[in-house]
Amino acid sequence: MPRHREQFEFESIQLSNSDSRPVYQQLEDHLRHAIADRTLQPEDRVPSSRNLATAIGVSRNTVLAAYEQLISEGYLESVRGSGTRVAKMPPQAFEFAAATNATKPQLDSTGCLSALGQQLSEEAAWVPPVATKPKAFTPHLPAIEEFPLDVWNRFCNEQARWSTKHLMLGDPQGYLPLRESIAQYMAVSRGLSCTPEQVVITSGSQQAFTMVAQLLLNPGDAVWVEEPGNAPANRLLDIAGAQLVPVPLDSEGIDLSRVPKKTPKPKLICVTPGGQWPMGMTMSLNRRLELIATAQRHKSWIIEDDYNGEFRYTGRPHASLSSLDSSGRTIYMGTFSKMLFPAIRLGFLIVPADLAKVFSYSRFLQDRSSPQLVQMTLHRFIESGNFVKHIRRMRSLYAERQTTLFESLEKHLGEFIDVHQPESGMHLTVRGITKTAEKRLVAAAGRAGVEFHPVSIYSQSGDAQGMILGFAAFDKNTIQRTVRRWAQELHQ
Ligand SMILES: Cc1ncc(COP(=O)(O)O)c(C=O)c1O
Repeated sequence: MPRHREQFEFESIQLSNSDSRPVYQQLEDHLRHAIADRTLQPEDRVPSSRNLATAIGVSRNTVLAAYEQLISEGYLESVRGSGTRVAKMPPQAFEFAAATNATKPQLDSTGCLSALGQQLSEEAAWVPPVATKPKAFTPHLPAIEEFPLDVWNRFCNEQARWSTKHLMLGDPQGYLPLRESIAQYMAVSRGLSCTPEQVVITSGSQQAFTMVAQLLLNPGDAVWVEEPGNAPANRLLDIAGAQLVPVPLDSEGIDLSRVPKKTPKPKLICVTPGGQWPMGMTMSLNRRLELIATAQRHKSWIIEDDYNGEFRYTGRPHASLSSLDSSGRTIYMGTFSKMLFPAIRLGFLIVPADLAKVFSYSRFLQDRSSPQLVQMTLHRFIESGNFVKHIRRMRSLYAERQTTLFESLEKHLGEFIDVHQPESGMHLTVRGITKTAEKRLVAAAGRAGVEFHPVSIYSQSGDAQGMILGFAAFDKNTIQRTVRRWAQELHQ
């Protein structure tokens, strides 16, 4: 026997003045509900606007506005000569849910997060704001206004126009021709001999650390890290359950002789030998050899994070750890974020040949691969000689900018500040000559609108002193003007 269906009582629709929504939206919601829960069925007629307005005590325009909205959303249809009715195929329930979500009572979703989710939710305010126009001296920024955008766009258009290759998912390990050009470039620029099969394209260093943590670490494994160091990467290792061991630095880089005797053996040692982040020193050759020997003794991996290795201005270049390490325990990590521009989200790892497959599989599981079009464009950019040309140009520009910042700081703030000019990098890290001087410098920077990162945010203990000043993205005048403004505030 057919079930008697419940009729929708239009007259019983109740609209409230105390509801924050306008009356026509309340009416829309009543009708959407009725259609979604099938009290109003496909092709059921709805009252004329005049009749419904009278029945529920609202103006006819209110009913017309609600009907119009529901017609545009596909819940109702108007049929010539026979008024308005429920559509033959009204939207599905999930669309209805989206339309009414705004009116749902708010759930405390953060209370439902995993333990890690809750920790991350508390830290989420650390996500840096999106910089529309970078202000001096925000660190981490290359000179994007110097990037040859016309050349890049031309290559990008060529690839996009003449081929459909970039519309297909690519090799999770990365676009082979790009891996070939990276392997060739590494041989020339770092004396690092590797095959394209060892190169794994990543979405920048940060994502590379996710794979490293996933594939090389078990919970509880000790990881020795520079103190202060690459805090966001360290956080990923910590999330993987690693036991982080902060190792102090001196003018030659990481100082393994200061690791206490009973410290657990490292499974991984992470370093930035080309220009320590954030203190800026270059790791000496002796320290490099000592580090490799230590890793061999403990059977540990080394991560050589060479994030700014291209930007070396004085002194003899040191051989990369990866080229010095004959035991194959060093994994090289490169990024195009600094060499080209941060939004490129392309970097690479050079791993032992027998690990390439598992790195590639991990990438496949995470997000399949990096976008093909960007990889193809970068390959053209390198092959055409534009990459080397750009790096050379930036190297001499950054050298000038580094000197400008160093000299301006010495001239205007010299009596308050302890500053050295490192051999490489895209930032200077300065300290107040005393804690009081540093407090005054920080306060004056705030008043003068000078941007910087405090070293303390990159320190495990949180109490390291110092201010990190990026210079690469700022021209000579901006650098000089900003330091003068800072000094004026300080002397007020
Ligand atoms: C030490 C270090 N390595 C690498 C990077 C680059 O990270 P990504 O390649 O994810 O942009 C940064 C920050 O920009 C960094 O501070």
